Amino acid sequence: MRLKIIGSAAGGGFPQWNCNHRLSQAARFGQAGVRPRTQSSLAVSPDGKGWVLFNASPDIRQQIAATPELQPRADGELRATPIRAVVLTNGDVDHVAGLLSLRERQPFALYATQEVLDVIAQNSIFNVLDPAIVPRRPLPLGETVAVLDGQGEETGLAVEAFAVAGKIALYLEDSSDPQADFGSDSGNTIGIRIADRGRNAFYVPGCARVDAALRERFAGASCLLFDGTLYTDDEMIAAGVGQKTGRRMGHISMEGATGAVAALAGLAIGRRIFVHINNTNPVLDENSPEHARIRMAGWEIAHDGMELDL
Ligand code: MLT
Ligand code: MN
Repeated sequence: MRLKIIGSAAGGGFPQWNCNHRLSQAARFGQAGVRPRTQSSLAVSPDGKGWVLFNASPDIRQQIAATPELQPRADGELRATPIRAVVLTNGDVDHVAGLLSLRERQPFALYATQEVLDVIAQNSIFNVLDPAIVPRRPLPLGETVAVLDGQGEETGLAVEAFAVAGKIALYLEDSSDPQADFGSDSGNTIGIRIADRGRNAFYVPGCARVDAALRERFAGASCLLFDGTLYTDDEMIAAGVGQKTGRRMGHISMEGATGAVAALAGLAIGRRIFVHINNTNPVLDENSPEHARIRMAGWEIAHDGMELDL
């Protein structure tokens, strides 16, 4: 299977539109080793022809423009797309807003947990995707299911969704009880195993914690694309751009005793790659000591357009 990371930044992208932090400035002014990145999304194909998107970012139009494989074939029908399905890992803005750009009465299938499908059903703006043309299909947890396109034809990929520790989408938080909605693993945030002919890739762009069960699940994977939002838990506070810790945002950090590098050390995984990287994360600078440290630990740092053949 072919994987193409079409968006490697967290919500806000890199540079973020209103951000004057040194890293956003470096990206904006074209500093060497600091690549701009669009918001979190992955495209996967079993054959290089039909594609399944994992998350639909607000930058999807730009991402399709940058990815010829996702454009209509020149000899195709008058209205056509190689995008056959979209699978969501949660209801966050950076993962669902791109659905609105996929209107135009084009068939494809939409997969998400029932919880996220309910959020979409409650927000009538998503009716621009007529469910008669874009069927909405609930993803069961812990079950491997074939991904079918809008007409019910096999895409060639199978997925298994599993709950990970995460957080309800920001716009659904209950401000009267800020503790209530985060750190949960009820299915508002999922990880996905993508399977094709014996190869397994895991896509987990949001995850608050790694426990023994998750380690066991990842063991032996061909590839792991994992939550690389923050380098350190208090990074946004230290940078002066926000008040939230990674923990509060439902994101594990790379470094530290309970960080992703330590928690996933020693596992047999073909390639381990950080995705969903926030614009404050120092690894975005390829010349930084933090970038070097993460690479030394056996991890790769995703960039837009990064391709993997598994
Ligand atoms: C996140 O990953 O925490 C979200 O994208 C934050 C947001 O919705 O802005
Ligand atoms: Mn996000």
